[in-house]
Amino acid sequence: MERLSKVLPIFKMLSLRSLAVSLACVATAFASPTNFTLNGPIKIGKRCTGTIQSLADVAAAELCTTINIGGFTVPAGQTFALAPPDGAVVSLTGQITFGVANWAGPLMTISGNSITFNGNNHNLVGNGDQYWDGLGINGGVVKPDPMLRINMGGTFENLQLVNSPGRAVAIGGSSLTVSAVTVNNAAGAAANSRSAGKPAGANTDGFDVSANNVVIQNSVVTNQDDCLAINRGTNIKFTGNSCTGGHGISVGSISSGVVVSGVTISNNVVTNNVNGLRIKTDATATGSTVSNVVYSGNKLTGITGFGVLIDQSYPSTLGTPGTGVVINGVTFSGTNTISVTSTAHRVEVNCGSTSSCTGTWNWSGLTATGGSGSTVKNAPVTGGSF
Ligand SMILES: *[C@@H]1O[C@H](CO)[C@@H](O)[C@H](O)[C@H]1NC(C)=O
Ligand SMILES: *[C@@H]1O[C@H](CO)[C@@H](O)[C@H](O)[C@H]1NC(C)=O
Repeated sequence: MERLSKVLPIFKMLSLRSLAVSLACVATAFASPTNFTLNGPIKIGKRCTGTIQSLADVAAAELCTTINIGGFTVPAGQTFALAPPDGAVVSLTGQITFGVANWAGPLMTISGNSITFNGNNHNLVGNGDQYWDGLGINGGVVKPDPMLRINMGGTFENLQLVNSPGRAVAIGGSSLTVSAVTVNNAAGAAANSRSAGKPAGANTDGFDVSANNVVIQNSVVTNQDDCLAINRGTNIKFTGNSCTGGHGISVGSISSGVVVSGVTISNNVVTNNVNGLRIKTDATATGSTVSNVVYSGNKLTGITGFGVLIDQSYPSTLGTPGTGVVINGVTFSGTNTISVTSTAHRVEVNCGSTSSCTGTWNWSGLTATGGSGSTVKNAPVTGGSF
């Protein structure tokens, strides 16, 4: 008893002190010139190290500001959901493998503010090859989707996702920088016994973004759908990435009541994709805007469908376009080179009216070669060689 009463005040002092330090950190973040956006409630951690070797360890570990995640298998049908305290440092120290079951997922989520996540180049193994049937997430067996949902702010780096059942990474957090993340769905390009001769992987998007203030850089995607799809958000940069085998870099598809503003797609290498650079807006969508999209320094080769496709008739391709989504300002600056295959189109722009594609469309930084000719309908494109 005596011991305990002597020890207790020290504990109280310690926790009060760490509370004060954490509160000071939060206050600093709010006062910083870049906006501190909450990805969930403010959550103040303890100065301890939590270790996760199974889902049973998560609740205790996520009280700590340092979290180490060892290699283990997540049981089939369960989400590895991690909500570290604000400012936490999270490290992967081994491979995470996800058990196989036909359920909706997601397989893993991470949320929180100002988190530093380092995967240390370990793998998340989604076992998508055991689900793939060529039908993606809208058909066939139920597939957990997405594989990883990042709803955090901070930095997230050095991780490889292998064989996502459906979409790989969905980003919903804001104020996030993702670096050196590999989405390796290369195995999905081949047919399997369930895919009737088609590529087994489908809807295996690399990154889906519905978030503000996001940078995705120096990352590598090999897949069978969009490398990047931006569904909504402001201030989004996709730079220095590599995309192989998929459907290209997309803004959209854009549905009703959505704002996309301030998108920079720069210095990416796109190889053997169906499309190169795309903006796709739903034909029936209303009340949405896509503004200030800038492409620079991108190099695309082996494009088999469309080098550039800006189409307001989605999900049709070059169908009857709608006018309910305004695309305002699309720029190709610097040098963007696109080489398409013999049966592909270099550039197609299909706008519903001159009032749904407005602003400056200076394409002086675009050179597209190969394939067949280009059509620009209802858009004020100037410059470029395509
Ligand atoms: C921060 O967000 C507020 C509210 O949205 C906005 O008024 C302000 O301009 C933002 N500040 C910065 C620096 O972005
Ligand atoms: C387009 O951009 C280029 C490069 O910045 C510039 O030289 C050119 O004048 C611009 N063209 C128009 C029509 O604004």
